[in-house]
Amino acid sequence: MSQLLVRNATLPDGRRGIDLLARDGRFVEVGSGLQAPQGCELLDAQGWLVSPPFVDAHFHLDSTLTFGQPRVNQSGTLLEGIALWGELKPLLTEEAIAERALRYCDWAVARGLLAIRSHVDVCDPRLLAVRALLQVRQEVKPYLELQLVAFPQDGVLRAPGALDNLKRALDLGVDVVGGIPHFERTMGDGAASVRLLCELAAERGLRVDMHCDETDDPASRHVETLAFEAQRLRLHGRVTGSHLTSMHSMDNAYANKLIALMAESGLNAVANPLINITLQGRYDTYPRRRGMTRVPELMAAGVPVAFGHDCVMDPWYAFGSADMLEVAAMGLHVGQLTSAAQARACFDAVTQVPARILGLDGYGLEPGCRADCVLLQARSPVEAIRLRAARLVVVRAGRVIARSAAASATLSLPGRPAQVDFTS
Ligand code: FE2
Repeated sequence: MSQLLVRNATLPDGRRGIDLLARDGRFVEVGSGLQAPQGCELLDAQGWLVSPPFVDAHFHLDSTLTFGQPRVNQSGTLLEGIALWGELKPLLTEEAIAERALRYCDWAVARGLLAIRSHVDVCDPRLLAVRALLQVRQEVKPYLELQLVAFPQDGVLRAPGALDNLKRALDLGVDVVGGIPHFERTMGDGAASVRLLCELAAERGLRVDMHCDETDDPASRHVETLAFEAQRLRLHGRVTGSHLTSMHSMDNAYANKLIALMAESGLNAVANPLINITLQGRYDTYPRRRGMTRVPELMAAGVPVAFGHDCVMDPWYAFGSADMLEVAAMGLHVGQLTSAAQARACFDAVTQVPARILGLDGYGLEPGCRADCVLLQARSPVEAIRLRAARLVVVRAGRVIARSAAASATLSLPGRPAQVDFTS
């Protein structure tokens, strides 16, 4: 029997001086003044924030860490990124994809990111990336939950054989149905792809997560079809629209009607702030649009909104390090989510909201939940975002799986303290 007692934690809901007792991988008691059972491992949180782990609702593990191969994206546009990925695909090997994905998972664990929904391109008839990531999913299972989305990067109708490949990927065990309606040849084909893929998901009892309207074109309205199909097929809560950047540029009258439909349909939304702010507005002069979807309005309407990382060092984005607090900080700034409640919602957008979108089992800090948590060098969720706080300790199923040094600096100034750590 393995036991761990985390002492003197601050929880995301503001409770202080809380102890959490884990036994055999689950939290069994959460409260004040818990006694340590005999032989129990102790972890003193020293009043720092203990949070459930970070969850990334939108990532691409098959392309991660390929930056510069075979060349760099010169224009910085989404379309050059897709073309570049097309050049790289024939050069990929299953081993290299798996090796890079595993390296990224190491980074994720170190950052307290223990669940990732990753899209995997199914347009390669060899399904190399699918096989590689299914193997990685199995390998990391003891410490990281990987959910895979069958993603037809070149368009399920536009790319020859893509629908067949997508179905084969699902047969092999890929979890979620993906799509990219705005990349199909016409608006009509885009809408048809949404209908087709939602029907496929409904037949197979799977969730849906589409790259949807990732463009500055306000006429790209596939999210409307996605919401409609979610409602028609009774997929409430199981369908996600990712990116939705066209909403940034839509007319307010239409956007308001659309947001109400999204809420009514139980649609989830994922914004990818780091990518949206760098890839959108690329055809603008000035003023230049930010491109991120209408996060505050969606949140206010009750649509679950998560922030995803999307890319790290790949054809679309040369930066990032699996840090969901960096993602949350960017989302907060780009969306001007500066009220106390909105800033706090940005923390939820990289923890509990994506956990619900992925349908994670036993996520949270209540008794009965799996004993997964992150000890952050911060006093509150908003401070964690402000500081991109150090992940002092990462716990999975009641076992410590990563530690990081606290962030601090040593000063040499007369009459001033020797140490500063930036916390409030
Ligand atoms: Fe993506």
